[in-house]
Amino acid sequence: MCIVVLVILGGSGCGKSVLMKHLPGLMQPTQGQIWVGDCEVTALKEREMGQVRHQIGMMFQGGALFDSMTVFDNVAFPLREETDCSEKEIEERVMNALEIVKLAAHAHKFPSDISGGMRKRVALARAVVDHPACIIYDEPHAGLDPMTADTIDRLIKTLQNEHAITNIVITHEIRSVFRIADRIVFMKEGRVYWTGTSAELQATSDPFLRDFIEGNAQED
Ligand SMILES: Nc1ncnc2c1ncn2[C@@H]1O[C@H](COP(=O)(O)OP(=O)(O)OP(=O)(O)O)[C@@H](O)[C@H]1O
Ligand SMILES: [Mg+2]
Repeated sequence: MCIVVLVILGGSGCGKSVLMKHLPGLMQPTQGQIWVGDCEVTALKEREMGQVRHQIGMMFQGGALFDSMTVFDNVAFPLREETDCSEKEIEERVMNALEIVKLAAHAHKFPSDISGGMRKRVALARAVVDHPACIIYDEPHAGLDPMTADTIDRLIKTLQNEHAITNIVITHEIRSVFRIADRIVFMKEGRVYWTGTSAELQATSDPFLRDFIEGNAQED
């Protein structure tokens, strides 16, 4: 099996976050089918969704951490909500996830006591803690300086290469796209407009895609 990083690109409002929320059944389509692996998500009842949700870790746009909970409790949240893990097992898994994002020393802190880049890494630890087969990241680079964005990119590649996790990354950060993407899907007005590799995107003569790439590059 080939484990990939798939990047989803497209202008604001084209439907990236909506698409992401449909995969684990957080939003329901009005028509059509959604498949995750061999499972038709659209045929499942809400109480059957657990089997799909266990396979997918989500890093939401903006992080979506609970301000009143410590870093540790934020990362433990999906295990406490969706599994019957013992507290000992939870502690082990949470500390493992925090090791991956290099935040084990900050487990006792609250989100307001750490930087924006660290909050993103906590959100990433929370996405990884239930050992998913796939993680979906919605704008993991937004608001980060280039070096911190690099750290996120390296983490994504580590999860792909060392933990065999498939990664779906929604981003506007074109630098990162060329660094991490094995495949790219470009969306426009709620539909797939183009698919290809990083090299194919770099070489494209499609004027719409070129504007997107060069527009982002000029902002750097
Ligand atoms: N719950 C909802 N019900 C109806 N329409 C929605 C809902 N959520 C989003 N939309 C609409 O669907 C479209 C796509 O929104 P979406 O949030 O997926 O955009 P996006 O591609 O993630 O944009 P951005 O890059 O700004 O995050 C927008 O027109 C938005 O207003
Ligand atoms: Mg969005």
